[in-house]
Amino acid sequence: MDWEQHYLDNHTPWDKGAPAPPLLDWIENNPDLISGKVLVPGCGVGHDCRPIAEMTSATEVLGIDIAPEAVKRADQNAVSEKNRYELADLFHLSPEYQQSFDWVWEHTCFCAIDPSLRDEYARAVHGALRENGTLLAVFYLDPYDEEHLPGEGPPHGTSLWELSDRFVGSGCFRELESYVPDKCYPGRENLERVIRYEKV
Ligand SMILES: C[S@@+](CC[C@H](N)C(=O)[O-])C[C@H]1O[C@@H](n2cnc3c(N)ncnc32)[C@H](O)[C@@H]1O
Repeated sequence: MDWEQHYLDNHTPWDKGAPAPPLLDWIENNPDLISGKVLVPGCGVGHDCRPIAEMTSATEVLGIDIAPEAVKRADQNAVSEKNRYELADLFHLSPEYQQSFDWVWEHTCFCAIDPSLRDEYARAVHGALRENGTLLAVFYLDPYDEEHLPGEGPPHGTSLWELSDRFVGSGCFRELESYVPDKCYPGRENLERVIRYEKV
């Protein structure tokens, strides 16, 4: 998948022009729980990074993406100095980012990578988090329609069983909460799951 070309062509159907509604809802219900340093892998143009950076409890919000054009656009809309972006690959994080984040926010990065890399994803996020750090995620469970058939993604779907196996069964995380979000982008009703994991 040539993500950069999609941004250059302005063909970014995943970009809804606004933060993920389940994230905004979660923040409203858990004010200032996200704190310290936050990593947002596959941040795109940074819609989700901005509301996190606006929380006083978050001291630094680093969005990373492998598409230079996405990072450039994200940078142009940064809300403050603590709202930073870098051109970086989650699977090759710089050593300085190992065990350095308190929280990771996941939204449509897991479903964008090839499913064969999912264990590597769990290891990368686990490695980036400090002890007892938190992975807060909205996972796209079933993104299929006439355009996106199983096996032909991205987006690649997942199941609760797979998530439990890869994140909890692997011994990397324990699950703290899991629910179907009330609020979502139009068209994603009942297709997503918010899960909060703690690093073990
Ligand atoms: C479906 S888009 C979602 C972007 C953003 N989360 C959003 O919802 O608008 C997936 C993003 O992940 C980025 N990406 C894919 N593989 C990546 C990797 N290994 N490391 C960092 N970013 C990656 C792509 O460039 C793309 O911007």
